[in-house]
Amino acid sequence: MGRDVIIACDFPGKKETLDFLDQFTGRKPFVKIGMELFYAEGPDIVREIKARGHKIFLDLKLHDIPHTVEKAMASLARLDVDMTNVHAAGTIEMMKAARRGLTKEDGSRPILIAVTQLTSTGQDQLEQDLMIHEPIGDVVTHYAENAKTAGLDGVVSSPLEAAMIHEACGTDFLTVTPGIRFAGAAADDQTRITTPAKAKEIGSDYIVVGRPITQAEDPVAAYERCLADFCG
Ligand code: C5P
Repeated sequence: MGRDVIIACDFPGKKETLDFLDQFTGRKPFVKIGMELFYAEGPDIVREIKARGHKIFLDLKLHDIPHTVEKAMASLARLDVDMTNVHAAGTIEMMKAARRGLTKEDGSRPILIAVTQLTSTGQDQLEQDLMIHEPIGDVVTHYAENAKTAGLDGVVSSPLEAAMIHEACGTDFLTVTPGIRFAGAAADDQTRITTPAKAKEIGSDYIVVGRPITQAEDPVAAYERCLADFCG
């Protein structure tokens, strides 16, 4: 899989999601199914969107003891998604367990990535809420190196961190980056953000775009704009 735009389908239910995807006539965008939709509709929504021909990033950000994560990943493996993830904060041991659980008998598995630090988290929250006093860039790089040590394929991070992650972990190590906004648009609750064109320049492999597409007056045009700016 090469560079691509992944649409975050953060909708409350199946109807809103399928109505949204129906607008993309003749196109099958790579979609992200996150907690909101998965917890509302269950695994069937993954099967249904997959049957329509979309690639799926199942973004459930698992974070628990290694044994539980391994078993949960074995359940998710049966959904045949293209990409899924865990929190790197769960430790190297937990990430190794996730990879084991996700790997099928024939050795195949979806792309497995780790969240470094959420793109809504800034330096102040890292220090005050989490008592982590290192610069956020060092924390992100360290978590990315841990993910690589555990045998994962890449990380979720801010697009602003893609270059330093590639420098630390190699250009083959994937950077999947939410925190994308068009120039001049509202940041919402995101802090470490940039535009699709800048994300391309910094070297993101995939951008994850939610509200700038889902809340746009013309979502298809917003998606095309992301594709042109990021993949063009
Ligand atoms: O609407 P917006 O473009 O901000 O959506 C970004 C999506 O990426 C959301 O679904 C959010 O859960 C997800 N995400 C994120 N930061 C991370 C990991 C995932 O914003 N580090």
